[in-house]
Amino acid sequence: MRLYRAKDYNDLSRKAANIISAQVIMKPDCVLGLATGSSPLGTYRQLIEWYKKGDLDFSEVKSVNLDEYKGLPKDNDQSYYYFMHQNFFKDININPENTHIPNGMEPDSEKECSRYNQVISDLGGIDLQLLGLGHNGHIGFNEPDTAFAKMTHCVDLAPSTIEANKRFFASADDVPRQAYTMGIKTIMQARKILLIVSGEDKAQILYDVLNGPITPHVPASILQLHSDVTVVADEAALSKF
Ligand code: F6R
Repeated sequence: MRLYRAKDYNDLSRKAANIISAQVIMKPDCVLGLATGSSPLGTYRQLIEWYKKGDLDFSEVKSVNLDEYKGLPKDNDQSYYYFMHQNFFKDININPENTHIPNGMEPDSEKECSRYNQVISDLGGIDLQLLGLGHNGHIGFNEPDTAFAKMTHCVDLAPSTIEANKRFFASADDVPRQAYTMGIKTIMQARKILLIVSGEDKAQILYDVLNGPITPHVPASILQLHSDVTVVADEAALSKF
């Protein structure tokens, strides 16, 4: 595991964007695993800037997103489909047909999860998976549990996740209660993982993830077992080290 210390969020975003750029330059038809949330916004902005300068080409890149709320249509401004389009895809030359996100409107969980697993396997797996970190140690929507979840599945969101995400909705009652997410095994099968963590509010959980025991109660702790993980965190997030 490599740990890079960034000065602040902007520095973190530039470092993360550099790592993703290197992947795209070295393998133009790579499969990028992407995340939503606040953490990757600066990274996406930086990648867009470099694309617009002519330094990056996404025309052959394929993407698979970690997760999607169940029950939100694509045009809902809180769906992860909408987020990815607004914050990244619409400003780069990725082929929309090459972008994949779980279908939140498929009511049959088993059907949607096996479809999504098949999509990832047909693409030949994920070359580089970008991850943010939840306050309770979740990655994707893999919440603390008594066992590590395996492949794509439907989850009930933890109260702390509903609480953290309510800032994007009119109220906590409007936050969907379920989501589709890649499983821990899906994430661990990515050839490379890039975890980005910013802010003092993530300092304790980042410490636990990297130094604590490997346990499903802290889902991201499993990353200690992956052979190619890069962590980029800002000074605030590293304040417990
Ligand atoms: C997003 C995702 C989540 C977030 C996590 C951190 O696709 O899978 O695990 O990465 O909740 O969210 P932020 O970055 O908003 O703090």
